[in-house]
Amino acid sequence: MPKRAATVPATGITLDPAGQRPMHRQLYQRLRAAILAGELAPGTRLPSTRGLATELGVSRTTTLTAYEQLRDEGYLDGQVGAGTTVAQLPGPGPALPVSGHAAPQAPPHPALSARGAAMAGDRWRLRPPDSFGAGLPAFPLGLPAVDAFPHQAWTRILARRARRSLGGLLGYQDPAGYRPLREALAGYLSMARGVRCTPDRILVVGGAQAGLDLAARLLLDPGDPAWVEDPGYYGARGALVAAGARLVPVPVDSHGLDVAAGQRREPGARLAYVTPSHQFPVGVTMSLQRRLALLAWADLTGGFVLEDDYESEYRYVGRPLPALQGLDEAGRVIYVGSFSKVLFPSLRIGYLVVPDGLMDAFTAGQRLSQIHVPALEQAVLADFLAEGHFGRHVRRMRALYAARGAALIRAIRRQTGGALEVRSAHAGLHLVGWLPTDTDDRAVAARAAEHGVQAQPLSAHALQPPSRGGLLLGYAAVPQPEIEQGVRRLTEALRQECIRR
Ligand SMILES: Cc1ncc(COP(=O)(O)O)c(C=O)c1O
Repeated sequence: MPKRAATVPATGITLDPAGQRPMHRQLYQRLRAAILAGELAPGTRLPSTRGLATELGVSRTTTLTAYEQLRDEGYLDGQVGAGTTVAQLPGPGPALPVSGHAAPQAPPHPALSARGAAMAGDRWRLRPPDSFGAGLPAFPLGLPAVDAFPHQAWTRILARRARRSLGGLLGYQDPAGYRPLREALAGYLSMARGVRCTPDRILVVGGAQAGLDLAARLLLDPGDPAWVEDPGYYGARGALVAAGARLVPVPVDSHGLDVAAGQRREPGARLAYVTPSHQFPVGVTMSLQRRLALLAWADLTGGFVLEDDYESEYRYVGRPLPALQGLDEAGRVIYVGSFSKVLFPSLRIGYLVVPDGLMDAFTAGQRLSQIHVPALEQAVLADFLAEGHFGRHVRRMRALYAARGAALIRAIRRQTGGALEVRSAHAGLHLVGWLPTDTDDRAVAARAAEHGVQAQPLSAHALQPPSRGGLLLGYAAVPQPEIEQGVRRLTEALRQECIRR
């Protein structure tokens, strides 16, 4: 068939089948340029992917890929099959800016690669640094009680290490991590989390984020489909998108990720990202049946499971559930852990437990990205674990967070007149306050921000609109009197946004 130039009638866009760039990239670039130039105004409805593919004489994959990328970057709104419109720029980020803490918004830079533009998109912008620390307005998401951290013990170990062993830690180190830390981690993970590992299978990385990024880049090729929990963790999605993955949202119900739905949508996905212990953000625990189904799928298809066990230490009722990785006979699970929640986020230390046979590749990958995590901090952390401070801290924080979670539930039930439904705070550092059906959670969150309360809308963490809106309320870093006060302010916002409806 002779190759001919294809045109989007409404915009005059033409694609060059003989061009150097793939057609989906050309279409993406033309549409993006038209949106940025205002030729396609916010709210403009684009043709369906099928219609446009026919119009242009290209495959539907071409139009789908271009639309998905534009949607991921915040240029387009809407879901496949439900109409696609041009978004209002700049689009909303995952964290609604809190008054006085607004994240800077900048349009994606036209000089960036497609991957760079995807990474720089507004939807991955995290909270600004000044919202990390003590004395914040309630209810910061994902922040542990950094003021209750045993500073003295940490400082003592740090000073001792700097005095006695810094000399030996100044040169380049093993990319896989400081050996005594890997040994301590192997003992802790097999005892406390049921993880199958030896120190040789542990790779120390710069927090869970660096581990997710490394795993995604090592395991996925551009365009590879990856299942992500929906709603789910934007940090993981960002890492997957940065690796070129095509996100496949898979719904989460009370048993965790719906594996059968994933199999219906994209059975040949290369990877599934899951938070089985405490699903982020809704907090459910993945059932054994689903865990086994997920492992069976991975074994059958050769896919990988990226298990993010980010805050599993914090379960207040019953015993913490063993990790999914401990059930993996076939070596399909990459286990990701972090000290961000259990100690403090600026430490930037996490770890991967990698299946046999992949450790060399992961270590080589680490060598090419971070080389290694700072050695002094790794050594301090190894001592902190070996000397029992870690275990004591976790026990103290469990009691503190359980009390704060219970106080938040009591305050919500007493003050909000049923406008916010809360189920439990049995685990983790935050809970979901479910709003009455048909309430716009972004509007409530914005109103709460006006009242000086941080409450992230659940829908900002979802790819498909959730059936019910909610507010994510972090309680771990909030002292009890401020919990009471925060709920009073939140109730005011709720009164304005939903009680009057
Ligand atoms: C689901 C999830 N995974 C991992 C992390 C921790 O990431 P990091 O170790 O990069 O700080 C977080 C923190 O917010 C999270 O919510």
